[in-house]
Amino acid sequence: MATNITFTMIKPDAVQNGHMGAIIDKIIKAGFSVKALKYTWLTPDRAGQFYSVHAERPFYNDLVKYMSSGPIVAAILEKTNAVEDFRKLIGATDPSKAEPGTIRNLFAKSIEANAVHGSDSDENAAVEGAFFFSGLERF
Ligand code: CMP
Repeated sequence: MATNITFTMIKPDAVQNGHMGAIIDKIIKAGFSVKALKYTWLTPDRAGQFYSVHAERPFYNDLVKYMSSGPIVAAILEKTNAVEDFRKLIGATDPSKAEPGTIRNLFAKSIEANAVHGSDSDENAAVEGAFFFSGLERF
């Protein structure tokens, strides 16, 4: 059964280009409530840990370098059917394939610098949220 929690990061390109506020506004207007929010900067080690599931992929080293190139915003979001609805809101990983009006369509630069991350399952939402936030039982 779907839970009502997902996890997102606003990535370095979107933060650097001043899209942080517009993206958070879009998320809230889409019906998500923000349960936790953090402006932070990943070290290469922490970025590598977060994306360790992709360690064997050809884009992994560049992804780690990019994700530690500037500040990010990490957040836990709540909404009925959160994981699926959030992935619809952000659009396809490759922004050239993202539906018009989605966050990646509006704000992403490339498949790597794709503005936002969204968890792909309830299990990963819990793991990824715990990577950045403690005390989750209070949510
Ligand atoms: P995200 O949804 O955060 O999950 C994994 C990330 O790897 C993805 O967004 C992109 O930033 C990046 N990524 C996925 N596929 C590719 C690719 N083919 N080339 C470069 N980066 C990719």
